[in-house]
Amino acid sequence: MTTRNRVDVIHGVNLDMLGRRPAQHYGDLTFDQLEQQIGTIARELDLEARFFQTNHEGELVEHLHRVGGLADAIIFNPGAWTHYAWAIRDALEIAGLPTVEVHLSDVDAREEFRKVSVIRDLCFATVKGEGVEGYRTALAAIKEKLEL
Ligand code: DQA
Repeated sequence: MTTRNRVDVIHGVNLDMLGRRPAQHYGDLTFDQLEQQIGTIARELDLEARFFQTNHEGELVEHLHRVGGLADAIIFNPGAWTHYAWAIRDALEIAGLPTVEVHLSDVDAREEFRKVSVIRDLCFATVKGEGVEGYRTALAAIKEKLEL
C-alpha cells in the first residue's frame, strides 16, 4: 500500500523574516525554528513534511503547478498574499490538493484588509491566531482528512 502522508508546508512573502517581525502578532521564533518545530510535530503525527518558502509570487505559482504529484496535502500560510493574490488562488486551485490555510496571528482581529482571504474557500479548514501550535492543529486536521 502506498502511504499518502506527504504534506507540503508552504510559506509566502516575508515569513522568512520571522524573528524580526512584531512579536505580539507572530511570536519570537525565527523562521528556521518554526520549520524545525513543524517538522517535529509532523514526525510525531507520522506525517512527512516538506518545506517551501519564497518572496516571489511567480515562484510560488510555479511551485503550486508542480506540487500536485509530489504531495498529498498542503499547509499554506501565504503571508500578505492571502489578502489579494488572485494568481496564487488560481494556482492553488490547479494544485487540487486538500489544503489548510494557516496564520500565526488572528487575521480576523487585526486590520480590515487582513479579514479578506482569496484562498479560504479552496481550503477545507482555516487555523489562525494559535501561533506555532496552529500548525499542529492543521497537521492533525490533514491526518484526519487523509484518513491516516
Ligand atoms: C500572516 C498574516 C498576514 O496578514 C501577514 O501579512 C503575514 C503573516 C500570519 O501568519 O499571521 O505575513 O499570514
